[in-house]
Amino acid sequence: MQKTDEREVLLSVRNLEVTFGSRRHPFRAVKNASFDVYRGETFGIVGESGSGKTTIGRAIIRVVPVSGGSIRFHGREITGRLPKAERRELTNHIQMIFQDPMASLNERAKIDYIVSEGLLGRGLSREEVRGRVQQALTAVGLLPEFASRFPHEFSGGQRQRIGIARALVMNPEFIVADEPISALDVSIRAQVLNLMSKLQRERGLTYLFISHDLSVMRFICDRIAVIHKGDIVEMADTETLFRHPLHPYTRALLSAIPQPNPRVEKRKVLEIYDPSCHHYDVDRPSWHEAEPGHFLLCNSQELAEARLRLL
Ligand SMILES: Nc1ncnc2c1ncn2[C@@H]1O[C@H](COP(=O)(O)OP(=O)(O)OP(=O)(O)O)[C@@H](O)[C@H]1O
Ligand SMILES: [Mg+2]
Repeated sequence: MQKTDEREVLLSVRNLEVTFGSRRHPFRAVKNASFDVYRGETFGIVGESGSGKTTIGRAIIRVVPVSGGSIRFHGREITGRLPKAERRELTNHIQMIFQDPMASLNERAKIDYIVSEGLLGRGLSREEVRGRVQQALTAVGLLPEFASRFPHEFSGGQRQRIGIARALVMNPEFIVADEPISALDVSIRAQVLNLMSKLQRERGLTYLFISHDLSVMRFICDRIAVIHKGDIVEMADTETLFRHPLHPYTRALLSAIPQPNPRVEKRKVLEIYDPSCHHYDVDRPSWHEAEPGHFLLCNSQELAEARLRLL
């Protein structure tokens, strides 16, 4: 009997392409991204600066138009033009947390306005809005009386909690977390990560977790996609990716992770990714499942070598 995958696909991205620039000088920031995110998991996207991670997140929350491919949420296409009611419903379901809590909060607005903004114009009474803001602030560990203060009165970690409250107030199912802890002090990163994990457990949230830091992702992600210059080059569950990285770019990223033991760190060999190692002029690359659940962008020769390595 064929084994069926029982996990529910919440978000399905296929052959996603996002192009910036003019028609004469197009720049493809995302070239061909395909992945599924299952309900309740944390799916990571890792890659260096400029590789297209944020652009994928922004395409999912519909703030950048896509130039090809599809994004389905609960099986429904969400790219392109949608009626207002559907757009509004999507805003309830899909929210984003941003990298820089210093820059992403409106300095001139009070916390209650910042957190409640997404709820306005939806026919809720002032009491309902106030109640939901207080609930969201409590859920992220902030006192309800903070609602009447301004962002500058808070530390970086507290501001990121406000950013999370602003997403939570909509009662979303899916949150795109774009480098949510990168701008924070090392000492408070773990607190914010723990808060995100707790909210996930309590509310059954699904996360798309964007980062360039694989050591953080190992701790928080169930599965990881590695992106290089707009191409997803490898995708696997986290442990598989760390144990059997197949793409040379993934291996280079893994070799760059700092090791806590100074002796190991000293002996570490840094791998450098040189795209000229591929011979793609005749044997073209495509997206292959090298082993169940472990995907690789490669040509047929590389696929054969990868499968040998996995034996
Ligand atoms: N609105 C835009 N107009 C033109 N180019 C853009 C736009 N947004 C992003 N880009 C370009 O697309 C590429 C991918 O950008 P993106 O912000 O998605 O990268 P990233 O992987 O999130 O990087 P970082 O780790 O620095 O946040 C970059 O070269 C960027 O300059
Ligand atoms: Mg980014």
